[in-house]
Amino acid sequence: MTAQSTLNTEPTRSVLDRLHEEAKGDRLRFITLAPRMLLSVLRHGSFAKGVTPSMMKECFIPLTAEGGELLYLTARAIGAKTIVEFGTSFAISPLYLAAAVRDNGGGLVIGTELEPEKHARALAHLKQARLDDLVDVRLGDAMQTLRELPGAVDMLLLDGWKNLYMPVLDLVQPRLRKGAVVVADNIFTFRKELRPYVEQMQSGRRGFDSTTLSIGQGLEYSVYRG
Ligand SMILES: C[S@@+](CC[C@H](N)C(=O)[O-])C[C@H]1O[C@@H](n2cnc3c(N)ncnc32)[C@H](O)[C@@H]1O
Repeated sequence: MTAQSTLNTEPTRSVLDRLHEEAKGDRLRFITLAPRMLLSVLRHGSFAKGVTPSMMKECFIPLTAEGGELLYLTARAIGAKTIVEFGTSFAISPLYLAAAVRDNGGGLVIGTELEPEKHARALAHLKQARLDDLVDVRLGDAMQTLRELPGAVDMLLLDGWKNLYMPVLDLVQPRLRKGAVVVADNIFTFRKELRPYVEQMQSGRRGFDSTTLSIGQGLEYSVYRG
């Protein structure tokens, strides 16, 4: 990455470095939550149903820096102006996306976050990085907040709860332009839950060319044929 990119320019660089550092605390947060999570998963029969977003409201569960750089470079390569994200958390991924939109000459990143405290902190982090003018983080359930979208979407990041990857894609796909990129995180962490998603994206039946990248927790990287 060049020194001139917004990613490596202050204040964005310091905010990202600080948030990645704070996210390392997730290890301890997970250990503390583990017994409660395990019981709830056993009771409900699946991670998505047993572990609620509110249970994880202190956890970052972010994209890795490598994954974030891939998002940045992809958005730059395709000249993305309009990007949609499912699952904003404390705003690590939207910082990478908004930096790319800034370096592309402007546009809009539409994020969505269910947890009010996370939403408030995400807005504060975007402001600290001086990228808040490029991001609209919508508070609420993505299945409602992403109903209204601008005309053509260049890129979609799926990083919320895994049972909603397909429904959110159903919602956003009609807005995707030809050549749009869809990136879905946690393919290795939730291998079983996300198998139907991966199979559908790689089958070609849904209009995508797609592959799984061994970056972070596994990224499904899909390009829309239109
Ligand atoms: C894995 S984290 C996202 C991490 C973020 N992309 C980053 O890189 O920093 C997933 C987030 O999705 C949020 N979430 C889960 N279900 C949601 C829903 N139905 N609508 C909106 N957000 C949701 C959770 O509260 C959580 O903060």
